[in-house]
Amino acid sequence: MKSLADIYNHLPDAPSEKTLAKADYESRHWSSAVPGPLKPGSEEHKRAVAQMFRETFNPYKPSVIDWPKLDPETLHRITSLPIWDIAVQTEGKARLRMAAYANMIDDPDMKDALSRNAWEENRHKEVLSKLVEAYNIKMASEPPYIEPKDTEWAYLVTGFSECVDSFFAFGLFALAERAGLFPMELIETFEPVMQEECRHILLFANWLAWHRATMPWWKRPYFELRVWAVWAFLAYERMDLARSMDEEGNEHTQDNNFTVNGAKDMTNMDIKLPDLMQLCLDENDRRFAGYDHRLLRPTTMPNLVRFGLGAYKLWEKLSSKLHHEFKGAKHEAA
Ligand SMILES: [Fe+2]
Ligand SMILES: [Fe+2]
Repeated sequence: MKSLADIYNHLPDAPSEKTLAKADYESRHWSSAVPGPLKPGSEEHKRAVAQMFRETFNPYKPSVIDWPKLDPETLHRITSLPIWDIAVQTEGKARLRMAAYANMIDDPDMKDALSRNAWEENRHKEVLSKLVEAYNIKMASEPPYIEPKDTEWAYLVTGFSECVDSFFAFGLFALAERAGLFPMELIETFEPVMQEECRHILLFANWLAWHRATMPWWKRPYFELRVWAVWAFLAYERMDLARSMDEEGNEHTQDNNFTVNGAKDMTNMDIKLPDLMQLCLDENDRRFAGYDHRLLRPTTMPNLVRFGLGAYKLWEKLSSKLHHEFKGAKHEAA
């Protein structure tokens, strides 16, 4: 394997349209040439996961992005989004946590994939830093990035957070594109970043299955308890942030809940929550569609949202039926 620094030094400065289109296509489509099932825990599955991550790499370079000039209204809309501090810090933390966990892994294939993921998080941070610089966005100073004490816990928190946030971000991004409030050049700049998050959570879901399948059986119960604890922590973290938003107003508020609250900032269209959730589901399916179907996908958020939408539709049906019956009974009584 080439070192990660090598990859970076050899990224093209000015790739041709054809090279860009090829890289973009390859980052979204990948299938293993190995026939048969890819069972988590098997060599074939593990190699396919690492190969997928390597071969879908998109070689864009943050330092050469041409940030479009914005009219004052669009500039204000972008600079006032309450996400920049948390976005830069999240990428910084993800980079550190993934690199720390990759260091702990002995398996060369998984180590390679996770190290590359850490490197890509650093590139996301660079893209965001360049945007902040280009549009002169006021930022809070970054806290020091400290190596996690419990490396596995930190990696699990980062991985599951990405699964939650990316699911909603896919829908919001599509909404932003449809609303046309942001210039197309900006949307196009962030498109590979979005697709990269899809690859990251694809890797995470398959790492998780591999990790479960290869750990000694007696470690499993404790591990599953930790997974539950991570979900509880994420729920608490998001509720806590939502609360601090309500009490303190919007100024300089860190909005980790942006993916849920952000629809209003992304569009001037009126979109109902169930429609937004359907859009998130559709976008999630679309982004994953090009990858080998034998690789696992993250399931918790899509399943939760599918369940919620099903319950909502059932409720709507029932309430309209009740409404009609009530009206009919009233009519007969009269
Ligand atoms: Fe990222
Ligand atoms: Fe990521």
